Amino acid sequence: MKIWAHRGCSYRFPENTLSSFREALEYEITGIELDIQLSKDGEIVVIHDETVDRTTDHTGYVKDYTLAELQAMKIRGDENEHVPTIREVLELIREDCFSRGILLNIELKNSEVRYEGMEQMILDLVKEYDMEPYIIYSSFNPESVAQLKKMRPDLHVGALAEYESRCLEICEASGADALHPFIKRIDIPDLRIRSDRPVRAWNVWQFEPFYPDGGDIEIQDLPALEAVGVTDIFTNAPELYVSRHA
Ligand code: G3P
Ligand code: CA
Repeated sequence: MKIWAHRGCSYRFPENTLSSFREALEYEITGIELDIQLSKDGEIVVIHDETVDRTTDHTGYVKDYTLAELQAMKIRGDENEHVPTIREVLELIREDCFSRGILLNIELKNSEVRYEGMEQMILDLVKEYDMEPYIIYSSFNPESVAQLKKMRPDLHVGALAEYESRCLEICEASGADALHPFIKRIDIPDLRIRSDRPVRAWNVWQFEPFYPDGGDIEIQDLPALEAVGVTDIFTNAPELYVSRHA
């Protein structure tokens, strides 16, 4: 089973921050997952929600704040942290990608706010950093998944949806390369007959809380998941599954 750090080591550090990504790089993970949105002045920022309400000391939509305003906000749980740009994250992880093959799953959060042009922007930025072989793109917006594959058929793109069967439908319609379903909605018993695509399963906060909320975390039965075709999991606590990087 391949283990991904979901929003970084987000059980012990504030999600989608440099400290959560820095900690993730300390482990023998397959890769890091993060979420991107666009600021008012068109900068790609790393934040999960369309609004800043839950993770910062401000309220309102990400799209209505400039980068400078977003970066001046305090992150809930660690006032020394800030909303990172994707540039900051690429610079942080680049060396680990090159030296030990760490991957990065960039989830385009463009379902509620469409962020027209976001696809081209992120592709250009990844190219600028020469990191194309290490990036997996994904989105809950099937139109964006299809657009990415149309723009660049060679990209590795994951179809995100709640049900595994819906992920497969999106893959078959768009040419997407992987299924990214909710871990409790693995509903295709015979996936290998229909597809040899990777299945990367994610979880939700009720089973895997985020820092600083804490609380119980559900330990996954990896052999059972592998038996139903899951190849990778995204987890807030990769430290439960892999050892520290030497
Ligand atoms: O990309 C997998 C997973 O992160 C999708 O759900 O809400 O955590 O972005 P969410
Ligand atoms: Ca995500």
